[in-house]
Amino acid sequence: MPDLETKHDYVAYLAARPQYYTRVSAPFGNVDRQDNTPSDNKVTNAGANLGRILFYDVRLSANNSLACASCHGQQHGFTDPNTFSDGFDGGKTGRHSMSLTNATYYENGRFFWDERARTLEEQVLMPIQDQVEMGMNLFDLEVKLAQTSFYGPLFTEVFGDEAITSDRISRALAQFIRTMVSYESKFDQAFVAGEWDEPNFSAVFTEQEMLGLQLFTGFPGRESQSLGCIACHQTTAFSMDQAHVNGLDGTNAEDQGSGNGFFKSPSLRNIEVGAPYMHDGRLATLMDVVEFYNSGIQRHRILSPDLTRDGRVGGAPVRMNLSQQEKEALVAFLETLTDEKFLVNPIFSDPFAQGTTLSEPPSSSEPPASAGTVSSE
Ligand code: HEC
Ligand code: HEC
Repeated sequence: MPDLETKHDYVAYLAARPQYYTRVSAPFGNVDRQDNTPSDNKVTNAGANLGRILFYDVRLSANNSLACASCHGQQHGFTDPNTFSDGFDGGKTGRHSMSLTNATYYENGRFFWDERARTLEEQVLMPIQDQVEMGMNLFDLEVKLAQTSFYGPLFTEVFGDEAITSDRISRALAQFIRTMVSYESKFDQAFVAGEWDEPNFSAVFTEQEMLGLQLFTGFPGRESQSLGCIACHQTTAFSMDQAHVNGLDGTNAEDQGSGNGFFKSPSLRNIEVGAPYMHDGRLATLMDVVEFYNSGIQRHRILSPDLTRDGRVGGAPVRMNLSQQEKEALVAFLETLTDEKFLVNPIFSDPFAQGTTLSEPPSSSEPPASAGTVSSE
């Protein structure tokens, strides 16, 4: 049984998003224009509370072995430290799991590294049915959840009656994921120290972090020093508008993402705890990522103009020639996006953590579960 007593106030958490997230004239651009929440599935407290239980419930997998959270762990910004994740039946996923931090901010609203899901509502049903990931079919899942006593009342609370349909499962899961917004990192402290439209970075950042900020964004007033990272990783959510070609591989590499080398990147919020990096997890550390952009960008027929020497699509890859000091500064800046509060916030935590995850009694050899030390992973 999950903890059914605690009801979290997700609507209040989202309403508390700072003004530089929500105001049109925010200094790094308005985050709300990136928001992919559809008008017919807005976040409600009942919906997100149900979504949280579904997200952590191993019943969503064919053999009750894996939950969504098994590959999307809160302490990792909702990604997986394994390069490829273990599926329900011992298989491995074909790509690295993606951080779900700020998933609501992705302008064209498509999901997966290759954008193959058109919406989040469509995406959340795909891992359930994936033959490697959870191996379940939706009809069996509807029956299984209908036979689980606590779900009926929860669905009634959200949808008005206790019918359990895959459409409703998808809506609740999507609502919960859209509450995973991060706005309490060191980076955010600069806005607290200044004004929402005039952040005071020097009040909270070290000199090294200041240099990293300038290299990443050109802010404040240092456009000429900018490496242009912010052109693709946009706004204070550091999320994208659409997929881009960043030259991780050449034109002939096997995995070309959504076609022609286009890949999505998740928000860079909480990137420090989301290693390894890129769609196949090939880069182990943030320094490896910085070294890739510094010296390793591959020629690609349609490499983004933001990463070519002459600013033309498919031109020769830029070589940044960064000093060791500049590379370390970029890493230090990326680490200011770590949101310690988000990573332990109870509103995102495992509701099954205090007990057993299924109705069977725990085996007697198991040590007693104490709150906070047990996780579903
Ligand atoms: C076995 C591991 C595994 C499980 C279980 C799993 N995922 Fe994932 N998830 C992944 C991997 C790997 C990717 C990237 C796959 C790709 O892009 O091809 C991913 C991608 C995603 C994305 C895309 C994020 C983005 O920004 O585009 C979302 C959303 C997501 N998963 C949600 C879920 C939900 C909800 C569940 C449970 C119903 C779930 N996942 C279960 C491994 C897993
Ligand atoms: C042309 C657009 C573009 C620019 C400019 C760009 N990136 Fe990226 N970035 C991407 C794409 C696309 C991915 C995902 C690529 C993949 O996995 O195949 C990515 C991935 C990343 C990741 C890993 C994300 C993850 O979850 O694994 C980091 C970190 C990152 N970029 C940092 C930077 C930094 C630092 C700069 C500036 C030096 C930069 N990016 C410039 C497009 C860009």
